[in-house]
Amino acid sequence: ATNRTFTMIKPDAFSAGNSGAILKMIEEAGFKIVAMKATQLTPAIAGKFYEVHSERPFYADLCAYMSSGPIIAAILEKDNAVEDFRKLIGATNPADAAEGTIRKIFAKSIEANAVHGSDSDENAAIEGAFYFSQIERVG
Ligand code: CMP
Repeated sequence: ATNRTFTMIKPDAFSAGNSGAILKMIEEAGFKIVAMKATQLTPAIAGKFYEVHSERPFYADLCAYMSSGPIIAAILEKDNAVEDFRKLIGATNPADAAEGTIRKIFAKSIEANAVHGSDSDENAAIEGAFYFSQIERVG
């Protein structure tokens, strides 16, 4: 069924000027952009977005990194969106990511890994709503 996922182009990819190339790969893979904006998070807002990871050893670094520069947030629509987007971006650690995936091509490290992708339909809805109100998205 057609459904939605949520993505962020992270500070490493944004500052390297790779946002356009990444969005091109996303569109060529069949995803439609149904909401999008550039913004910069504060450490507190990054901490809220990644609250589920608050007990992990990388949490403080992650919050600092995700607020270190601009990002792009977007909601994407496609058949089987969550699973297909995770395939398109590849493994969290770029060292483990398959050839041709966005992280394999653009990620710098397990933390500065170019893009975020929701891990479930439920989290896609929560994460999309974290960034976008109803008038900021299609449908
Ligand atoms: P993301 O898919 O956005 O979800 C959590 C983020 O934490 C992850 O991508 C990375 O940017 C970051 N991270 C840093 N270290 C790790 C790690 N060891 N395992 C998983 N995620 C990590």
